[in-house]
Amino acid sequence: MFNSKPVLVSGVKPTGDLHIGNYFGAMRQQVDLFRSGKYQCFIFVADYHALNSVQDAEEMRRRTRELVMAYIAIGLDPKEVTFFKQSDVPAHTELCWIFDTITTMPYLMRAHAYKDAEAKNKEITVGTFNYPVLMAADILLYDAVIVPVGQDQKQHIEYARDIAEKFNRIYKTDIFKLPEPYIMPEVAVVPGIDGQKMSKSYGNVIPLFASRDELEKCVMTIVTDSSGDRPENVYQIHRLIRSEAELAPLYEEHRGKYKILKELLIEDLDRYLAPMRAKYEELKLDSSIVEEVLARGKREAHAASEAKMEKVRKAIGVA
Ligand code: ADP
Ligand code: TRP
Repeated sequence: MFNSKPVLVSGVKPTGDLHIGNYFGAMRQQVDLFRSGKYQCFIFVADYHALNSVQDAEEMRRRTRELVMAYIAIGLDPKEVTFFKQSDVPAHTELCWIFDTITTMPYLMRAHAYKDAEAKNKEITVGTFNYPVLMAADILLYDAVIVPVGQDQKQHIEYARDIAEKFNRIYKTDIFKLPEPYIMPEVAVVPGIDGQKMSKSYGNVIPLFASRDELEKCVMTIVTDSSGDRPENVYQIHRLIRSEAELAPLYEEHRGKYKILKELLIEDLDRYLAPMRAKYEELKLDSSIVEEVLARGKREAHAASEAKMEKVRKAIGVA
């Protein structure tokens, strides 16, 4: 298990029903990276981060289970990575506290997420305020060199670097390695069925594990702009699964025939998603694999993080 490859750490919050925007926009590239064989990967369900918004026990359990099943269904091989639950490894919160004692409030007040919430006059919990510190602990515990995230998370990696440097400086040590952000290549925004960006908050999604019937319903309701020959919202989804060269003759042949083009998209989407959906359904019937994966992940993450924490505790003088 432990090897000399550079470490990759990635956390995913169990906060929403997955849709094809999440898949084509982020998850597909993530899994390709995890499977590249270049890194030792620690992937975790960021349930303690999610606790800032998911505050119902049953929902938390369900979403956590679904996220694990979803990643396995889309091709993550749980034997090749350490896949675990953040809350299963107490070192994350322990290290977060230690970092809290060297992190100032004005510094955290500069975080984009905090500033946005404040600008909107939202009630901000200490957990939300402290979000970047827990994330720094997630990353630094495993000596991550690469942390693949979307652009919106870049600042959090800078926080992790700053906190690592500050700790090393105060305690005259080199315990923490400075992580590098790896900004996932921008993939075109996937439009929802109403033409806006597909998002769970807009209620315009095509669920990633939709049945054939659901797919049909969703695609048939995609809003099309009748001013052009090509229904853009249909095409933008179609090009995620077939090359432009393949699509050009089809869209030429069926110029202006939106219903036929939608039917073609249904066929192609269904063919593309079916194997993942089948795997997901199989896992739902027997979710013991989820428990097994998380139990193994817990053991491995625990071993790695404890080794680190022993050094940290010595460095700060509590051990
Ligand atoms: P949502 O907008 O449904 O709340 P999230 O904000 O949870 O989705 O996004 C999770 C990941 O999926 C992010 O990395 C984001 O970039 C990606 N993503 C979400 N929606 C889309 C979309 N419509 N097109 C491309 N990528 C998306
Ligand atoms: N904040 C990340 C997000 O919203 C999730 C996350 C938590 C994470 N801890 C992490 C990502 C550590 C990478 C590394 O997407």
